[in-house]
Order: sequence, then structure tokens, then C-alpha cells
Amino acid sequence: MVEIKDVWKSFDRGRIEVLKGVDLQVRRGETVALCGTSGCGKSTLLNVIAGLEDPDRGSVRTAGRTIGGERERVDLLRHDVGFVFQLHHLMPDLTLEENCLVPVIAAGGKRADALARLAELAEATGIAGQLKQRVRELSGGERQRGALVRSLMNEPSLLLGDEPTGALDEANRERVFAMLLDLVRAKGRTLVMATHDLELAMRCDRVIRMRDGRIISDAA
Ligand SMILES: Nc1ncnc2c1ncn2[C@@H]1O[C@H](COP(=O)(O)OP(=O)(O)OP(=O)(O)O)[C@@H](O)[C@H]1O
Ligand SMILES: [Mg+2]
Repeated sequence: MVEIKDVWKSFDRGRIEVLKGVDLQVRRGETVALCGTSGCGKSTLLNVIAGLEDPDRGSVRTAGRTIGGERERVDLLRHDVGFVFQLHHLMPDLTLEENCLVPVIAAGGKRADALARLAELAEATGIAGQLKQRVRELSGGERQRGALVRSLMNEPSLLLGDEPTGALDEANRERVFAMLLDLVRAKGRTLVMATHDLELAMRCDRVIRMRDGRIISDAA
């Protein structure tokens, strides 16, 4: 599902080296936690996997697509990858329902199918009652669950999470993470998730530790 070979990435014209030769393979159906101290490169690696950032060197294959041009990038994000960002990135003045329909419309999906899927996902995550509310009126936990629902609307084979439960209190973190794992495992999806929470990380199939732009351990 993810095949990364010797990926290097720097910012500021090479002055800030962030990824220093990362090799990573993730099989379909695996759940993988990405750990390491702040600044070690977790978000950058997720962005590279999603095709949101280009590596300076190395090869990236995600969901069977080699990320090259704009076309592959757009197709990847529309059809294969769901992304839950650390900050939810929902549009505050749209309702939760409208937010969740945007990716479906962008991918050319049918509205009726999307509404049926939305109802199911909202039920599973306990936010069915909030669908008609504007995002700005929702609590942090509701927004994060909304972002999770939105990321799954196009039934992505790969779900990428950048501290998807980072903004939540302990009780909500537990709830949202349990839902996330259930939703991923029930459909045989693949999950790669950056997290600072070792307890959550240990519940994934694999824990990958990064330090200073490199993978330093990879354990089942
Ligand atoms: N667009 C950018 N321009 C310049 N520097 C960047 C950019 N994006 C990331 N960096 C730098 O790259 C390093 C790694 O950032 P990254 O966001 O990948 O870390 P992280 O492991 O996700 O950290 P955190 O746990 O705090 O989220 C940091 O030092 C950061 O300042
Ligand atoms: Mg980060």
C-alpha cells in the first residue's frame, strides 16, 4: 500500500534537512503508528506518502500509484487516500454534512450514495445529531470525529492520520481512536498514523519510531 525507498526531503533550499533516507513498506490492511519527538519528520513523511509534498530524492508509491505529476496526485487524494489532519481542517461556516459531501462531489460520486454512507459513518461515530450544525458550533471532539468521517467518505484504501486524536481530552481520545481502528479494520483498510501517544501506538499492528529524519526502529 505504501512503498517508499530512500526518501530525502529538505526545506528552505536544502538548509533544513527533514527526511534523511527513509525506507518504508506498509502492506494492505496493516495499522501502523509513527512515533518520535516533535520535529523528527512524522508530518513531513505523511505528506510525502499522500503526495502533498515532493521528496528531493527517492521513490514513493502509494496505493499502487507512483507519485509523479499533478494528475496522479489529484487521483490519489480523490480516490485512494483519506487524511485526518492534526487540526481538523473542516470549513467552519459549512455544516458538518456539507463538509463531508465536498470530497464526494470532487471525486464525481453520487449524492444519494454519499448521504447513505454519511448516515452510517455519523451513526458509528456518534455525531449523527450534529450533521446539520455549522462546524464552528461544534466541540473539539465533534469536529475531530467529523474530520474522521469526512476522511472516510470516499472509502479510501489508505487512511493517513496526523495525530488524529491530538486535540482531544482523554475520554474522547479513547472513543475516537477506538472508532478509528474499528472503521479501518472492519473494511480491511490500511492506517498510518503519527502519534505522541504510546498507549494508542501500541494498539496498532506496528510501531515505527523516527529520530531526526530517520526510522530507528520498526516493531510488530
Ligand atoms: N514547509 C516547511 N518549511 C520549513 N521547514 C519545515 C516545513 N515543514 C516542516 N519543516 C521542519 O521540518 C521539521 C520536521 O517537521 P514535521 O512537521 O515533519 O515534524 P513532526 O515529527 O511532525 O513534529 P510534531 O510531532 O511536532 O508534529 C521541523 O523542524 C519543521 O520545522
Ligand atoms: Mg507533526
